[in-house]
Amino acid sequence: MIARNEGSIEARRQVIQTALDARKAPAERNRLGQFATPYTLAVDIAAYVQSVAGGNLQAVRFADPAVGTGSFYSAVLAVFGRERIESAIGIELDSDFCDAAQSLWSESGLEVIRADFTRVVASAQRPTAPNLILANPPYVRHHHINHEDKERLQSLTRRTTGVKVHGLAGLYVYFVLLATEWMTPGGYAAWLIPSEFMDVNYGAALKELLVEAVTLIRTHRFDPDDVQFGDALVSSVVLVFRKAPPPVGHAVEFTFGGTIREPHACDRIPLEVLCDSRKWTVYPSHTRNDRRLSGNGDGPTLGDIFSIRRGIATGNNKFFVLERREAEHYNLPKCYLRPILPSPRFLKTTVIDADDDGYPSRTSTLHHRSRSG
Ligand SMILES: C[S@@+](CC[C@H](N)C(=O)[O-])C[C@H]1O[C@@H](n2cnc3c(N)ncnc32)[C@H](O)[C@@H]1O
Repeated sequence: MIARNEGSIEARRQVIQTALDARKAPAERNRLGQFATPYTLAVDIAAYVQSVAGGNLQAVRFADPAVGTGSFYSAVLAVFGRERIESAIGIELDSDFCDAAQSLWSESGLEVIRADFTRVVASAQRPTAPNLILANPPYVRHHHINHEDKERLQSLTRRTTGVKVHGLAGLYVYFVLLATEWMTPGGYAAWLIPSEFMDVNYGAALKELLVEAVTLIRTHRFDPDDVQFGDALVSSVVLVFRKAPPPVGHAVEFTFGGTIREPHACDRIPLEVLCDSRKWTVYPSHTRNDRRLSGNGDGPTLGDIFSIRRGIATGNNKFFVLERREAEHYNLPKCYLRPILPSPRFLKTTVIDADDDGYPSRTSTLHHRSRSG
């Protein structure tokens, strides 16, 4: 399937990728969202897209908005063949990756642009619209996006796509929305992104796009217990869609575990069911899916009985969280104090009783420290 010359470029690419990864500490790679797609996975994704697109992708105009060293371009060459590629664009912010992609692939037809994709796509120099996007965008979390950038991204996305993105959304949400707006109608896209958007409120904008503006063909979620790709994909999902309104009666294929070629579980979920589902990771409903609903989903949830919060965001725990003794020492009025639990590792039981004064019982915690926040 892979031409000999391209095979040796791919082998070189993998060596360069390993060397570039080793240069940066995991924390820095995390901040920049730099986790490469394993080549076998990139090929599986490209082959799947080719199988569903059939004759609709005779001439390929490829783009990867976060190209890295070009794992997806390599896979597109192997699967579609050089002769079907009319144009190919890779955008990359990091100069080391950009140089690597350029030296590896420019002779094989990839034009590499060193830029921030979210700026290029909004500029007058926006490149020709692609009809095939395969991408693993940066997983940069919202707290690593600075305030001005977030405002710029939110207003750009609102203006160009009409979608309002939640402030807690990571950079990948903006990538998917902006790139989908850029691609030609009828084009195909596959995105390797974190699966968290499927269940949380800030994923709403993306879910809206997936059920209304495009035809979502498949979602494949990796099994967190599966170690075939190391830690890189523990909570990732591959989305495959076509930029075309969904046909009446459309159903989406949800697969889980194993590989794209051989998933461990599979279900077809009608679009109208998906539109009403708050959480998408419950599909496919199969014993191997760790998130499946144990009942039929009609019963009460914990949220119907309790008010549930992840914690209290104080903005400065060192200042606001203090021992009761300290609060008493400073004569802080009791009406401004709230009892809080220590970290779960200091809890002895899963049921925490309250003492008469409303503070957590001292017998439930390992450290006899009842804190006020
Ligand atoms: C998750 S990696 C994926 C790389 C490659 N496509 C692959 O699949 O192996 C994301 C890449 O996006 C680059 N990147 C981060 N922010 C970007 C931006 N605003 N515009 C373009 N590229 C960006 C990172 O440097 C990194 O190389």
